[in-house]
Amino acid sequence: MNAIGVDVGGTKIAAAVVSPEGEILNEVRYPTQAIPPNRLVRTIADTITEAKGDFEVGGACVAAPGFVSSAENKVIFAPNLHEIEDIRLDRELGSATGLRITVENDANAAAWGEFRFGAGREFDHQVFITLGTGVGGGVITHGVLLRGAQGAGGELGHVTIDPDGPRCGCGNHGCLEALASGTAIGRRAREVANERPRSALGRLAIDRQVLGEDVTRLASEGDEAALQVLDETGRWLGIGLAGFVNVFNPEVVAVGGGAARAGEFILEPARREVHLRARSPSRDLVRIKEATLGPASGVLGAAALARGEDGEYVLGP
Ligand code: BGC
Ligand code: NA
Ligand code: ZN
Repeated sequence: MNAIGVDVGGTKIAAAVVSPEGEILNEVRYPTQAIPPNRLVRTIADTITEAKGDFEVGGACVAAPGFVSSAENKVIFAPNLHEIEDIRLDRELGSATGLRITVENDANAAAWGEFRFGAGREFDHQVFITLGTGVGGGVITHGVLLRGAQGAGGELGHVTIDPDGPRCGCGNHGCLEALASGTAIGRRAREVANERPRSALGRLAIDRQVLGEDVTRLASEGDEAALQVLDETGRWLGIGLAGFVNVFNPEVVAVGGGAARAGEFILEPARREVHLRARSPSRDLVRIKEATLGPASGVLGAAALARGEDGEYVLGP
């Protein structure tokens, strides 16, 4: 039977009806900024109901950007979306939609999407990392999604990379998220723009606030300052990945999220660091590549993690 995958993010809520073959049959999106205060859960419920329409659906899974409690089907801590914290989404959304609702971390869901339908399809051991507003992670070993004791495992964005680094949304300093997220790219770009005022990046910064996506565009036009920012970002990412490669010995590391659109500008320095810092045989096996599903990985993976009344995955294992 079909399942619904829901992706709750800082910019949009997306709900999609997904077939057992991984085909999106219907999708509804709602911009998060347009949601009035205290209407988040209501809006998620409405988005699910609208997506469902007349489709037959066996269950829904909500992927949310934070530390999850699987037992309670809620988010305990969401560094970049506090509104979603401490709400029993299974109960509230279950009664509003009439569906069985489970909750999963957004990056775990996206990792599962890439594993089932995208970059990880041919592999049993995959690390997924998403570079967006935050940095999320998802680890699959032996074909099983790592959740840890409570469901909060796989938070790869909050490993400390630089003890004296910038403050992270989680309260720590120098997390991978504080150094390699889309947000971090924007912040570092504004610093480098000040240091190199005659670069294209520096000149843009005089007109307006520089954003993460500006950096990729200027780098592809050859601007040295923008290239410097992405090279630094890729190095921080690679330092993180080298650790993950040593720990998990994955066949593939898939990098997704908005900042992954910087492609080789980030991946090439990341591979260099992995090669320098991780050990054989892990570093020789691993392929570090861009995720293939783009923003759809979240709803696809969430749908594939939805459970029916019998507790089994609706779309199959
Ligand atoms: C959160 C993760 C989430 C990631 C991407 C991080 O700040 O801690 O739970 O997966 O952002 O949204
Ligand atoms: Na995760
Ligand atoms: Zn952190």
